[in-house]
Amino acid sequence: MDNLVETKRIVPWMEKRAVYPGFFDPITNGHVDIILRGLRLFEKIVVAVLKNPQKKALFSTKDRVTMIQEIFTHQPAIEVKAFDGLLVDFVRRQKARIVIRGLRAVSDFEYELQMALMNRQLDPEIETLYMMPSVNYSFLNSGVVKEVFALGGSVAGLVPKIVEKKLREKLKQGRLSVGKLPQ
Ligand code: PNS
Repeated sequence: MDNLVETKRIVPWMEKRAVYPGFFDPITNGHVDIILRGLRLFEKIVVAVLKNPQKKALFSTKDRVTMIQEIFTHQPAIEVKAFDGLLVDFVRRQKARIVIRGLRAVSDFEYELQMALMNRQLDPEIETLYMMPSVNYSFLNSGVVKEVFALGGSVAGLVPKIVEKKLREKLKQGRLSVGKLPQ
């Protein structure tokens, strides 16, 4: 039985909530799709926005958090918080045990496997749960949205309206031009 996962320590109340972490620069409809799918499984989802000064972002941590809060204003089951440090520590502080991640294509797999196994190494009690987004968003990521928008392409239907508005503001401020775009 040595190699089997331990199940008897699962505490039921912990399973009601899950953490959905990411950089969200900015959030896309692919992320929103995963959050809504997650709500079918959990009573509460904490969207955890990485606050990482080393990683270049178009939007500040505050803007990234606020946009997600606005998208889910009428959804009390969604909480949005910024975090830094180790994800597993944040998950523990939220009294959660499950991390949700979206898996779009095989190309995501290697990075996701490494992250899930590292997180398991750090805290074997935390499980990562992968969900497939709708096929409509399986080609989508924040980097491609910023690039297309900067080049004058339409991102309608690919990001929430508030994100389109904020991207337009960045474009006007000259903060959104290809070449200096953070992925
Ligand atoms: O949106 P992203 O860039 O795919 O999100 C990555 C994220 C934020 C989930 C990941 O970088 C993370 O968990 N960072 C926190 C630091 C950490 O815990 N690192 C160890 C796990 S690899």
